[in-house]
Amino acid sequence: MPADASSAAPKRARILALANQKGGVGKTTTTINLGTALAATGKRVLIVDNDPQGNASTGLGIGRTDRGAGTYELLFGETTVAASVRGTSIPKLFIVTASADLSGAELELVELERREFRLRDALAHVVADYDYILIDCPPALGLLTLNALAAADSVLVPLQCEFYALEGLSQLIRTIERVKRTFNPSLEIQGVVLTMFDRRNNLSDMVAADVRGFFGEKVYETVIPRNVRVSEAPSHGKPVLLYDLKSAGAQAYIHLAGEVLKRERNRQSVHG
Ligand SMILES: Nc1ncnc2c1ncn2[C@@H]1O[C@H](COP(=O)(O)OP(=O)(O)O)[C@@H](O)[C@H]1O
Ligand SMILES: [Mg+2]
Repeated sequence: MPADASSAAPKRARILALANQKGGVGKTTTTINLGTALAATGKRVLIVDNDPQGNASTGLGIGRTDRGAGTYELLFGETTVAASVRGTSIPKLFIVTASADLSGAELELVELERREFRLRDALAHVVADYDYILIDCPPALGLLTLNALAAADSVLVPLQCEFYALEGLSQLIRTIERVKRTFNPSLEIQGVVLTMFDRRNNLSDMVAADVRGFFGEKVYETVIPRNVRVSEAPSHGKPVLLYDLKSAGAQAYIHLAGEVLKRERNRQSVHG
């Protein structure tokens, strides 16, 4: 291969949906901090806040009153990514915020043409502008999550280390399989990340073992510990990597980013 062949190939962002229909499992925390860690390695990263709660936007310091057009307008063709994207305090990390109207989108989308493809169509215009696009999903398997799964190359599933971690997961897997069969045949699971691991609690170990038994190598080696700095960071409008880089939580997310990048490199070498 000539030396410049790979640089001549147009860049195409890898799109990861962070999904789990359970709330409070670490989707948003993982979106923000994985996004920050990827940006810190020099990747250009876009976060799409696809949850009406808008926690990814708030967690990156963009308050509710401070948001213009966002994901709602994007889904309804009233704006473009280029027109609505915002910078963050992290170089190379960008966000399309969730607007208040997004809570109505789930119902309003039903009537629309290409209702599952609205996000994919909108992102198609910017895939050459980013290395990674991370979509933070709401805690449901409705049309907002379907739009994310239809747009994504792969899914990253955060699982909280609690007794009911695996409950409801078969429903998520079935949804992913259905999206594969119907509108996105190449969709894969990038990996499963165990979050809020408490090493003083034997239950965490048991849950982790269970999840590894079920998902095998799909589970990342990196486990995100329960760490108070992680939970404090959003109220300061910062990723934990900025709030307290030395904290166990920040370090874990840096490791996770390394694993995600490694899987992407391996995938590339297999698929060419
Ligand atoms: N590793 C962690 N350690 C401590 N608290 C965490 C950790 N990860 C997430 N949290 C907290 O748990 C809550 C739920 O996390 P969040 O990322 O918002 O979940 P989801 O987006 O799946 O609803 C938030 O208050 C968040 O700050
Ligand atoms: Mg969330």
